[in-house]
Amino acid sequence: MRLLIPHSLLALIVHGAVLAKSDLLESLAGVSGGLIFTYPNQMDYPRASEPFNLRYSYQPAAIAYVNSVEQVSEVVKVGYDLGYNVVARSGGHSYVAAGLGGKDGSIVIDLSNLTYFAMDQPAAVATVASGLRIGQVATHLNEWGRALPHATGAYVGWGGQTAYGGYGFSTRKWGLTLDMVLSARVVLANGTVVTASKDTNPDIFFAIRGAAPSFGIITSMRLQTWQPPSSTTVYQYAWNMDIRTGTAALSAFQNYSLTADIPPALGVEFVLVPGDARGAVTLLLSGTWYGPADELEPVLRPLLAELPTPRSSTFDVGDYLNSVKNLAGGSLDVSGPGAHSTFYVKSLITPQSEPLTVGAMKAFITYIANEGFDTDLGWFLQIGLLGGTDSQINSVASTDTAFPHRDSLFMMQLYAYTKGDVLPYPEHGFTFVDGIVDSFVNNMPDDWDYGAYTNYFDDRLEDSDYRYYKQNLPKLKHLKAKYDPTGVFDFPHAIKP
Ligand SMILES: Cc1cc2nc3c(=O)[nH]c(=O)nc-3n(C[C@H](O)[C@H](O)[C@H](O)COP(=O)(O)OP(=O)(O)OC[C@H]3O[C@@H](n4cnc5c(N)ncnc54)[C@H](O)[C@@H]3O)c2cc1C
Ligand SMILES: *[C@@H]1O[C@H](CO)[C@@H](O)[C@H](O)[C@H]1NC(C)=O
Ligand SMILES: *[C@@H]1O[C@H](CO)[C@@H](O)[C@H](O)[C@H]1NC(C)=O
Ligand SMILES: *[C@@H]1O[C@H](CO)[C@@H](O)[C@H](O)[C@H]1NC(C)=O
Repeated sequence: MRLLIPHSLLALIVHGAVLAKSDLLESLAGVSGGLIFTYPNQMDYPRASEPFNLRYSYQPAAIAYVNSVEQVSEVVKVGYDLGYNVVARSGGHSYVAAGLGGKDGSIVIDLSNLTYFAMDQPAAVATVASGLRIGQVATHLNEWGRALPHATGAYVGWGGQTAYGGYGFSTRKWGLTLDMVLSARVVLANGTVVTASKDTNPDIFFAIRGAAPSFGIITSMRLQTWQPPSSTTVYQYAWNMDIRTGTAALSAFQNYSLTADIPPALGVEFVLVPGDARGAVTLLLSGTWYGPADELEPVLRPLLAELPTPRSSTFDVGDYLNSVKNLAGGSLDVSGPGAHSTFYVKSLITPQSEPLTVGAMKAFITYIANEGFDTDLGWFLQIGLLGGTDSQINSVASTDTAFPHRDSLFMMQLYAYTKGDVLPYPEHGFTFVDGIVDSFVNNMPDDWDYGAYTNYFDDRLEDSDYRYYKQNLPKLKHLKAKYDPTGVFDFPHAIKP
């Protein structure tokens, strides 16, 4: 029987003791099947511990390249027995290097060699291993003439994006990626491997759909796939606007989102990028239409009627895969090394029942038109439609999955980066992004019940437990105490018992 010593304490003891470290290496070397792993001072360690977001630099105690569920289980057991925190890394694209542990001294289980994919016919249920990248999954699905909703970046790991959500332009029509999961293989904190589904281990099934990193390591999952539409249109309209026009445009977008009959086949967002003068912004209306090309314009007409004539517009009409490629920046090939970025992101999810006031929208547009022009950072701000008529995201009850934001209108990603991705990321870069969220929050009622999105993880977010998990937090804390009482899967801002 294992003593219940908190892992944070145990990690301290382990850290100080040279013997304990050799314990770790010995134990990893003893994992069956010849585990490949690296650790500090090894030649391949600097490359292996490189984060996607270059402003982080963490030193995992070891990084293990697993080849099977059994190896995942055994490595988790090593962490459990020796008192190390353990984290999974699928694609390594966490915004806060959580796939490296989010701090020093964790054991990283790299899943990138778990790349199994299969399609069960005729049910069209895909089995997807967590180590696949989105680009690879989309390519496999296409070979079977099927589709899934997911994030846009080709290099993003399937495991990580599904663990926390999986939001894209097709999610109004189909749901989040995690809503498609029928069952998953999960390695729990003590190394036990379980299947989780609606009927088997339903508590774990609940927790891993929105909070998986705090509960277990998903090695593979079965997902219900969709028939892709035969035609898609990736569209974008652009404007330069002053503060007054920009505020009215955002207000018109929100009114359209709240009141127009918007088919779920429409994925849409407002994107703001730096304007060409102080007091101006560049506004993009972009998205993807999953239907016949000629039916897009009538759908957008009530919104476009409220806006000035665009400066430009583009339409990329093609098959379904064409839209996935376009949104991924033109290619789904992930054989190259992939890009990095030096950035800070905050997210903001607005409740459908408490829309932004015109005052809050004006404060926001004013802030970015002025502070956003003055800053030396690059930035883009996405205000995506989560809700609206018949949105499949909102058709799920908020207590069905750990992801709780089922009555939301907008999903915002507020992203600022250093140009050329140079280091360091400046202190004023944090205040700039904080100020964007404040421009909304400080101009809304005190009890405005906004949320935040775990896939846009913000390790500086105050009250993050509540903003991320809302009414599901008490249940998640209870389940954490039950399934991971000593915090094997602990990292900054993980769910605590
Ligand atoms: C270019 C780019 C575009 C993006 N676009 C979108 C988008 O359109 N929509 C959207 O929703 N998100 C988007 N994201 C965010 C993305 O979904 C998250 O960063 C996601 O967590 C990355 O997953 P990963 O496997 O690559 O990262 P990792 O760093 O490997 O993992 C992220 C987190 O999940 C945990 N984790 C990883 N694998 C598993 C597993 N198998 N089981 C349990 N826990 C696991 C890790 O420990 C870590 O905490 C984008 C990110 C980037 C970089
Ligand atoms: C990945 O798996 C292949 C076989 O599927 C194997 O040859 C290779 O050595 C593995 N790589 C690592 C790093 O374990
Ligand atoms: C949006 O609707 C609100 C409430 O009806 C109204 O006050 C506001 O002027 C509308 N915005 C636009 C741009 O029409
Ligand atoms: C591991 O944890 C699970 C879930 O809490 C529990 O059912 C199982 O009995 C545990 N196994 C061992 C060997 O302790």
